[in-house]
Amino acid sequence: MGNHSWLLAAVAAATLIAGCGQQTEDSGTESGTAPILTAKTLGEQVVLSAEDYLAAAPYADADRTQGERQAQICRACHSLDKGGPNMVGPGLYEFFGTKAGTRENFPYSEALREADFIWTPRALDAWLAQPGRFLPGNRMTFAGVMRQEDRDALIAYLLEVTTAD
Ligand code: HEC
Repeated sequence: MGNHSWLLAAVAAATLIAGCGQQTEDSGTESGTAPILTAKTLGEQVVLSAEDYLAAAPYADADRTQGERQAQICRACHSLDKGGPNMVGPGLYEFFGTKAGTRENFPYSEALREADFIWTPRALDAWLAQPGRFLPGNRMTFAGVMRQEDRDALIAYLLEVTTAD
């Protein structure tokens, strides 16, 4: 019973937050303040290979050693290795370019199960900035990586290590 009222509250909050997101969808410009990107406002995404992402800004110049350090936090809950198990969070080997919430045998939240977007660096960047804002109702207990520079470094590292050669 307690669980159900919690869920209802979460759904209500998700609806509220989704509503707010729509109002700010068109605000922000390329050079000025970044628009708030959420799972709902990602739109049609261009999906490239990890190699192509790593050849272009901002990932080409990102500090992957710093990224490896950042990734220690993720490793507490996620395996990044080939054939790695689901832990508290799903295994993340080869997740770039796949649909969110589709790793086998992982008990996802409803939010992630019903999400309809592809994991691109752009989507991951917005998720990592503030998971609860990007996809309300998800169960990843993680506040986010605050600095853009740290997210760039982390994503460059993840592109490298979670992608098959
Ligand atoms: C405290 C544990 C924890 C930490 C730390 C954590 N995660 Fe997660 N992560 C989860 C859980 C649990 C889920 C599944 C959430 C759900 O079902 O709503 C998840 C989901 C994800 C997903 C979605 C995967 C899919 O199959 O769609 C990605 C991507 C992700 N995490 C990346 C990261 C990265 C990168 C970091 C490090 C910055 C990180 N996580 C840190 C627990 C964690």
